[in-house]
Amino acid sequence: MARHFLSVDDLDAEELLDLLDLADRLKADRSLYRGALDGRSVALIFEKASTRTRVSFEVGLAQLGAQPIALAAGDLQLGRGETIEDTGRVLSRYVDAVVLRTFEQDRLEALARAASVPVVNALSDFEHPCQALADLQTVRERLGGLAGRVLTFVGDGNNVAHSLLLAGAKAGMIVRVATPPGFEPIPLVVQRASEIASTTGGSVEVGNDPKSAALGAHALYTDVWASMGQEEEADERSLVFPAYRIDEELLGLAAPDAIVLHCLPAHRGQEITDEVIDGPRSAVWDQAENRLHAQKALMLSLLGVD
Ligand code: CP
Ligand code: NVA
Repeated sequence: MARHFLSVDDLDAEELLDLLDLADRLKADRSLYRGALDGRSVALIFEKASTRTRVSFEVGLAQLGAQPIALAAGDLQLGRGETIEDTGRVLSRYVDAVVLRTFEQDRLEALARAASVPVVNALSDFEHPCQALADLQTVRERLGGLAGRVLTFVGDGNNVAHSLLLAGAKAGMIVRVATPPGFEPIPLVVQRASEIASTTGGSVEVGNDPKSAALGAHALYTDVWASMGQEEEADERSLVFPAYRIDEELLGLAAPDAIVLHCLPAHRGQEITDEVIDGPRSAVWDQAENRLHAQKALMLSLLGVD
C-alpha cells in the first residue's frame, strides 16, 4: 500500500527527525540526489491559492529529476464534478504521487483511499504538515535543537497550529498555543499532541493568554487571523485578535535570543508588525526557503529513494 502524508501524525518521532536530517543535508548540498527521481512524475493539485507550496514543490521535484504537473482544480474535470476518488484512480495510472491543497481533510483521505500512489497534504483546513517540517527544520537550525525548547503559537488555532502542535510534541518540545476564546485548536488534536508529548518528554499547553504563552519562549510563531475560506469572517476576527499580534512588546517577553516564525503569507500590521517581521529575530525567510529542502526530503522518502 502506498505511504501517504496527510498529517504530521503519519510520521513517528524517529521518521520525523530522520526527515529533518535529510532536509539539512539537501540544504547543505543542493546537488544531493540530483536526478534521483528521474522518470517520475508528480501531480500537484491546488484548490486554493499558493505561492510557496506550489513553487517549492515544483522546483524541488525538478531538482530531483521528477516532472511536476501543477494543476488548478479548474483545469481538471474535478472542477466539473468528477469525483476526487475517480481523479485519484486515474492519476495513479500516470503519476508516482499526488500532492493536494484543498479545504476538507476528508477530501485528502478520500483521495488517499482511492489512489494507489502516495498522497501528500499540501494544506487542508485541518492541517499543514509540509509547513510543519520546514518549521521544525528552521527552529532546529536557529536554536541548535528541538527537545525542551519552548515553541509558542499565538493567534488562530488553525491548520498551521494543529500541525505545529503535533510536530512539536513529536520532537519533545514544549508547545504553547494561545488563542482568543472560541478559536482554540480542535480538542482532538490537542489531546493527540499531549499523548505524543507524554512519550517524548515534551508538553502541550493551550490557553487564551498571549503574554504568559510568550514568556521565555524560544520561538514565537503566528499566522493569519482569517485563513483561506474564512475571508468573510475577517472583519469580525480583527476585533478579537489584536492582543495576539506579535509586536515588539510581546517579543520582549520571550527569551532574549528568541526567533520569530510565520508560515506566510503575512498580513503585516495585523498578526505581526513590520518591525518584527523585518527585524533581527525574524526567521521567516529561512523558514520559507526550508519548505524546498523539507519537501525534497519528504518526496525522496515517500518515493522510496532514501
Ligand atoms: N506557507 C504556505 O503554505 O504558503 P503558500 O500558501 O504561498 O503556499
Ligand atoms: N492558515 C493559513 C495558512 C496559509 C499558508 C490558511 O489556511 O490560509
